[in-house]
Amino acid sequence: MSPNTSDISIRQINSPDELTAPLLADLTALLADAVSTNSSVGFMANSTSEEFADFWRTEFNKVTTGNIVLLRTFRQSVGSVIVSREQRANGRHRAEFRKLLVHSAHQKLGVGSLLESQATKSAKSVGIELLYLDSATMYLVNGIYERWGWQKSGEIPRYALNPDGSYTSTWYFYKDIR
Ligand SMILES: CC(C)(COP(=O)(O)OP(=O)(O)OC[C@H]1O[C@@H](n2cnc3c(N)ncnc32)[C@H](O)[C@@H]1OP(=O)(O)O)[C@@H](O)C(=O)NCCC(=O)NCCS
Repeated sequence: MSPNTSDISIRQINSPDELTAPLLADLTALLADAVSTNSSVGFMANSTSEEFADFWRTEFNKVTTGNIVLLRTFRQSVGSVIVSREQRANGRHRAEFRKLLVHSAHQKLGVGSLLESQATKSAKSVGIELLYLDSATMYLVNGIYERWGWQKSGEIPRYALNPDGSYTSTWYFYKDIR
């Protein structure tokens, strides 16, 4: 059964130790779900659960050095977003917005919008002024980032592969959050 969004709590990860086995299982399932719908999220159709799990272990380990990881949870975690702050001295005002994912069983319920707005607030609260992202064009919900206040700044053809091996172009977006 799909959750009512009022039942869903948001959670910010503050320590790598928060990656418990059940949470890792949920997040692995979240990536597997995105790959199963052919979303270009860094993996291929033959990527394994262990590769998905390694991805999350690495991201959780980086929360101590500026990664903001947010999850939407309802019994299990049904969505994610990662904000990765630039570590070089001349770019600490910017961060990359990554892995905005909502499990296909829980989409179109407002979870993605809540993750985006909370990630923006969290980034701003630690002094980040500029967010940027790239997103494969093929399956992206039409106009979704523009509705959230992002500016599209360009398209690169044949940027990445979809899980099925076909090429997809990517759009770059940025959001000035000063
Ligand atoms: C993009 C994504 C995160 C959106 O999550 P979501 O929880 O479904 O988003 P919301 O429910 O908050 O919907 C936001 C808006 O998009 C619309 N929308 C969402 N999915 C839609 C779809 N499949 N078709 C048409 N509109 C859709 C909603 O109606 C809503 O519109 P509104 O602002 O006018 O009310 C989700 O589709 C997803 O995980 N996709 C796969 C991975 C991906 O593409 N990630 C983003 C690129 S990094």
